[in-house]
Amino acid sequence: MASSLLLSILPRLCVFFFFSLLFLVDTTSFHEIGVSPSYTSFSTVRMTKNKDEVEALLNWKSTFDNHSQSLLSSWHGDNPCCFTGVACNYYGAITHLNLSNVGLRGTLDGLDFSRLTSVVSFELANNLIYGSIPSSIGNISKLNSLDFSSNELSGEIPPSIGMLESLHYLDIYANNFSGHIPTSLGNLSNLSEINLFQNNLTGPIPTSLGKLGNLTIFDISDNFISGSIPQEICNLRSLTILFLADNSLSGSIPSEIGRLASLTVLFLSYNNFTGLIPHSIGNLSSLSALSLSGNNLASPIPTSIGSLAKLTELSIRDNMFSGSLPPEFNRLTHLFTLLMNNNELEGELPKDVCLGRSLNYFSAFKNHFTGPIPTSLESCSTLIRLRLEENQLIGNITEAFGIYPHLYYVDLSYNHFNGELSRKWERCSNLTSLRISNNQISGEIPAIFGRMAQLGALKLSSNFLSGEIPRELGSLSMLLELDLSSNAITGNIPTEIGLLSHLAHLNLASNNLSELIPMQLGSCKSLLTLNLSRNKFWASFPPDIGNAQFLEVLDISHNLLTGNIPGVLGQLRMLQVLNISHNCLSGSIPHTFGDMSVLTSIDFSYNNLEGPLPNVKAFNEAPFEAMQHNKGLCGNVIGLPKCNSTESKKRNSHVGLRITIILFLSLLGIILLSCTLIVLVIINHHRRRIIKRENNEQANDLDFMHILNYDGKIFYNRIVEATEGFDSKYYVGEGAYGIVYKANISEGQTFAIKQISPSQDDSEIVDLIPFEREIQALTNIRHRNIVKFYGFCSHVQHHFLVYEYMERGSLRMVLTMMKEQ
Ligand SMILES: *[C@@H]1O[C@H](CO)[C@@H](O)[C@H](O)[C@H]1NC(C)=O
Ligand SMILES: *[C@@H]1O[C@H](CO)[C@@H](O)[C@H](O)[C@H]1NC(C)=O
Ligand SMILES: *[C@@H]1O[C@H](CO)[C@@H](O)[C@H](O)[C@H]1NC(C)=O
Ligand SMILES: *[C@@H]1O[C@H](CO)[C@@H](O)[C@H](O)[C@H]1NC(C)=O
Ligand SMILES: *[C@@H]1O[C@H](CO)[C@@H](O)[C@H](O)[C@H]1NC(C)=O
Ligand SMILES: *[C@@H]1O[C@H](CO)[C@@H](O)[C@H](O)[C@H]1NC(C)=O
Ligand SMILES: *[C@@H]1O[C@H](CO)[C@@H](O)[C@H](O)[C@H]1NC(C)=O
Ligand SMILES: *[C@@H]1O[C@H](CO)[C@@H](O)[C@H](O)[C@H]1NC(C)=O
Ligand SMILES: *[C@@H]1O[C@H](CO)[C@@H](O)[C@H](O)[C@H]1NC(C)=O
Ligand SMILES: *[C@@H]1O[C@H](CO)[C@@H](O)[C@H](O)[C@H]1NC(C)=O
Ligand SMILES: *[C@@H]1O[C@H](CO)[C@@H](O)[C@H](O)[C@H]1NC(C)=O
Ligand SMILES: *[C@@H]1O[C@H](CO)[C@@H](O)[C@H](O)[C@H]1NC(C)=O
Repeated sequence: MASSLLLSILPRLCVFFFFSLLFLVDTTSFHEIGVSPSYTSFSTVRMTKNKDEVEALLNWKSTFDNHSQSLLSSWHGDNPCCFTGVACNYYGAITHLNLSNVGLRGTLDGLDFSRLTSVVSFELANNLIYGSIPSSIGNISKLNSLDFSSNELSGEIPPSIGMLESLHYLDIYANNFSGHIPTSLGNLSNLSEINLFQNNLTGPIPTSLGKLGNLTIFDISDNFISGSIPQEICNLRSLTILFLADNSLSGSIPSEIGRLASLTVLFLSYNNFTGLIPHSIGNLSSLSALSLSGNNLASPIPTSIGSLAKLTELSIRDNMFSGSLPPEFNRLTHLFTLLMNNNELEGELPKDVCLGRSLNYFSAFKNHFTGPIPTSLESCSTLIRLRLEENQLIGNITEAFGIYPHLYYVDLSYNHFNGELSRKWERCSNLTSLRISNNQISGEIPAIFGRMAQLGALKLSSNFLSGEIPRELGSLSMLLELDLSSNAITGNIPTEIGLLSHLAHLNLASNNLSELIPMQLGSCKSLLTLNLSRNKFWASFPPDIGNAQFLEVLDISHNLLTGNIPGVLGQLRMLQVLNISHNCLSGSIPHTFGDMSVLTSIDFSYNNLEGPLPNVKAFNEAPFEAMQHNKGLCGNVIGLPKCNSTESKKRNSHVGLRITIILFLSLLGIILLSCTLIVLVIINHHRRRIIKRENNEQANDLDFMHILNYDGKIFYNRIVEATEGFDSKYYVGEGAYGIVYKANISEGQTFAIKQISPSQDDSEIVDLIPFEREIQALTNIRHRNIVKFYGFCSHVQHHFLVYEYMERGSLRMVLTMMKEQ
């Protein structure tokens, strides 16, 4: 009966909502909903009680932009219990507002908080709410949970928030709040979680927070909080998680911190803490994660650290710790993460670090650790990242490492390891990065390394490696970086390197590589840096390298290369650094270098080069040292002779003369041809007139026509036909002095027709000036025979030039191809 009455009161739509509300109320323990209401009184109570709340919500809605309003389309009428994200209690009063993830954009200014008298939880996370929190928020007196996280709220956190006596959860992280943490928060004795991280908060941690005896989570990381940790904070016996990371806190870590006996997570990283780690830290027996990284903490590390038996994550990196680790450190056998890098630590690495077989991340790089690899690491199959580079570790590493199925990254560079490359690395099937540079590793690179399918970086430089580069490395299809420089590697570069299509950095410098540089290197299309310097490569440089079009750094210095500098290098438009010094290259610097606009550093010294330097920034600003010891380079570089201007002028004038002669001859030819054609046409014309007269035809024939190599009249007609009288649909573009059309005369014979803007229409004498200019322009193209100029037509209606037609872009290609020869 009760439920049927209910159905008659509430619209159908609301039924589900009501029951889900019952469920919500049941599962939460808010004391104000204790009374079981009678259903008859329910409707009337609801109607009166809701009125204020509905108004408050609808007024708020009306302040949103149109889009946000459309997201709240269910917000209409006078029953808020049906509104999206609204839940009511038995009396019909709004108790829960959950508008998280709705996508609302607007402010809180239009919301009258004082009317939301029954609201116990207000969630607005992940929206685009901006502006500040009005201080009237202090009027939602029953509020238990407030979540405004991940919005764009700014301004200060209103102190009136301290009036929300019942508040358990305060989540306003990931906003843009500034100002201080309000002292009044200390009045909210029921507060259990405070999450203020990722804001712009400044000022100190209020001592009043020491009163929050129920606080379990306090996270203010990623702000600009300053001052020291107040001792009062150490009274928070319930605290399990304390995140103070990424602030500007300073001073020492108070020894009272040892009182926080419930603490499981303590993050003090990336502040400005100084002094020592207090001995009392050993009292935090529940601690599982401790991060002190990024401070100015100094040694000694207290022996009590060994008491933290539950510790799984320990980070002390980026501090000023020196000396050896205390022996008690070896009791930390269940570590999952141990980060100690960037300190001044010495002595041996903790030998039992992986005794518990749980170590995933171990990083001790940039310290002064000595001694061998701890034996517990050999069987540490859980390892994912291992970074021991830049220490003084010693020992034979041939057998020191095991097989790590999860290992993703290993760096042992800059130590004193000897022995050979272990074949076991190959069985670390997830390995993406293997770095053992700057050690004393000898022997050959195992061919089996070619099976490391995930490998992205293989860096073995500055060792004593010998033998050849195994051609199997060509199978490392994910490889981005290969550095084998400064070893004693012999033989040639296997052509299979060309299969490494992702390779961005290849450094084979300072080895004993010889023979030819394989042209297959040009297939490494992703190359950014290529260093082949200080080897014994001879013969000429393969032009195919021009295919590596993203190349930024190219060093082939100190080899035995001969021949000319391939002009194709000029195609490397991204090239910034080019060193070809100390070879036997001869000839002149190709003019294509004039296009290398981002080139900044060059070295062409110690070759047999001659001729002028290209007129481009890198050459104009090059020091003399970069050009010295050549056969006869000249140019603007101080120390080099100026180019013999008369000579170059003479050469230019030679060219000019040739062009003029050609131009003159062609013009002469044209004119002669024109004349003969004119004569022919006139004769023809006369004859036609006679014929016309005779045949009484009304033919409106050509008055004047020129064409080279073709039967002019037919050709003219076909062009007009093919372009449908120069219809715009055959338009391809506009060039100098005219519009270009595409004419498909017959199968496979396409011409570009440039129509010259007609001048002096009435005149029967062709204005040769545009033609002359055009022909001149053609002769100015270095390879004027590329664009075949077929001829021109002149007619009272149309004057046009006829060229070979080229698809878009292909002219450029042909031009550059021709330049190489
Ligand atoms: C919002 O909608 C109203 C009426 O539908 C319209 O008058 C107003 O211009 C709209 N505003 C915007 C910003 O689109
Ligand atoms: C509020 O709504 C979001 C979904 O938008 C949901 O993930 C979250 O659990 C809801 N909160 C409560 C307390 O029901
Ligand atoms: C609470 O609401 C009343 C009435 O709207 C208002 O006068 C008062 O300023 C509000 N309190 C706060 C702290 O804003
Ligand atoms: C704090 O919470 C307890 C139980 O959750 C409750 O009894 C008490 O009234 C609350 N205090 C305030 C000030 O709301
Ligand atoms: C945060 O607030 C500052 C001023 O306090 C303002 O300059 C900045 O643009 C705001 N950033 C965002 C993401 O709202
Ligand atoms: C905290 O509450 C006390 C009274 O309970 C009051 O006197 C004091 O002003 C409040 N502090 C703040 C900062 O609101
Ligand atoms: C606050 O943070 C924003 C980035 O979220 C930044 O642009 C702004 O400069 C910061 N304001 C202050 C006062 O530091
Ligand atoms: C903590 O919570 C308990 C009940 O959960 C309550 O009795 C007590 O008053 C709260 N506050 C403090 C400061 O302990
Ligand atoms: C850390 O403190 C020192 C002085 O103790 C100060 O010079 C330095 O600027 C501080 N660094 C930061 C990041 O606050
Ligand atoms: C290898 O790496 C991938 C991706 O990082 C990961 O999903 C996979 O679980 C790893 N395999 C092993 C055996 O760790
Ligand atoms: C390193 O150990 C391997 C075998 O474990 C041995 O063959 C090799 O000679 C050792 N190398 C050096 C330099 O001691
Ligand atoms: C420049 O050319 C002139 C004329 O050919 C010649 O006499 C002179 O030696 C040349 N100078 C140099 C530096 O080559």
